[in-house]
Amino acid sequence: MYLANGLIDRLGEIILQSEAVPGISSGKSKSKAKSSARPTNPIEVVTDRNVAGLLAQRVIDSLANAGWSVNISVTPAGENIKTSATVAKLHNHWFELGYDRNTPVIALGGGTVGDVTGFAAATFLRGLPFWQAPTSIVGQVDAAIGGKVGINHTRGKNLIGCFYQPAGIVIDPSVLDTLPICERCSGLAEVVKYGVIADRTLFRACERHLESWISGDEAIPDSVIECCARIKLRIVAADETDHGLRRLLNFGHTLGHAFERWGNYRALRHGEAVALGMVGAGWMAMKRGQWSGRDFARLAAMCTLLRPRRLASFKAFDIARHLTVDKKRVRGRNIWILPRGIGRVDIRGDVTEKEIRGALTYIADWMHG
Ligand code: GLY
Repeated sequence: MYLANGLIDRLGEIILQSEAVPGISSGKSKSKAKSSARPTNPIEVVTDRNVAGLLAQRVIDSLANAGWSVNISVTPAGENIKTSATVAKLHNHWFELGYDRNTPVIALGGGTVGDVTGFAAATFLRGLPFWQAPTSIVGQVDAAIGGKVGINHTRGKNLIGCFYQPAGIVIDPSVLDTLPICERCSGLAEVVKYGVIADRTLFRACERHLESWISGDEAIPDSVIECCARIKLRIVAADETDHGLRRLLNFGHTLGHAFERWGNYRALRHGEAVALGMVGAGWMAMKRGQWSGRDFARLAAMCTLLRPRRLASFKAFDIARHLTVDKKRVRGRNIWILPRGIGRVDIRGDVTEKEIRGALTYIADWMHG
């Protein structure tokens, strides 16, 4: 993983010098190029319309300056591109361009672009070298790290996919400066999540600065992005395929995904749904007596800044019925991440319907009461 400001303009040379550098690098490695790709070889950039307007030219220039022959595919923006039709379109295009197993593919964009591009790269000729260049907060702290790639199915989000580790992840926090408030808000929900599951200092920093990070009065420090990325790397290194520790990353996501499904993936941004889910899981933990009311109130105060401004009213059942299509269910039970302290959480499979109803009723009152 490479993390530093300005790396987006150095992608070309970084990929050329892609001898594995363990841990986090500033991208200044002088290691000899390992890839058999040489300048003038093709390289593919997949991005969406929103990001293309802001960053594509810089990336194309950086790659071309390093000698690559750049092809760019621009998709529409949004979750709707995560379909088998998009994957087929990319594959057809790549066959036409004569790509072989050495052709690198770069996902330039948020989690959506990373997911669908990674899945297309993983399945083309049994795998092309795949690079993540995330441009959203969610992408930089979470989605681009860990090798989860995939598309949606009519039955739910990310139900078709695989684990395919990128050849490299290039994180340039300076590209976050142009994000609109709603995107910052959505991404910061994931940052708060890392505070709760793994890092008290990060949690306290969020408490102090969240409001001005959201408004843009203060830039989100690179150290915050790096802290989250390091937590994610550490967790994924311990449990790549999501059978143990990696489930911690699901804090707020069990109910969050149900809210997203209820809203047809349009009514709520991912982070907004996660904010609702974190309040629900926190409430359950408090009611179980395993988490203090004071810490729950600290989390809820932050989620008040992150939750959706408007939300159609709902009954507990409207949301709960969407829990049954969660791909993380084990033997018919959802997996819940419940806090025990700040930076300390449990993985539980024994949450009852009554607790779920209680949490959803609490969230409904908190939103609309
Ligand atoms: N975003 C959760 C995970 O990568 O496991």
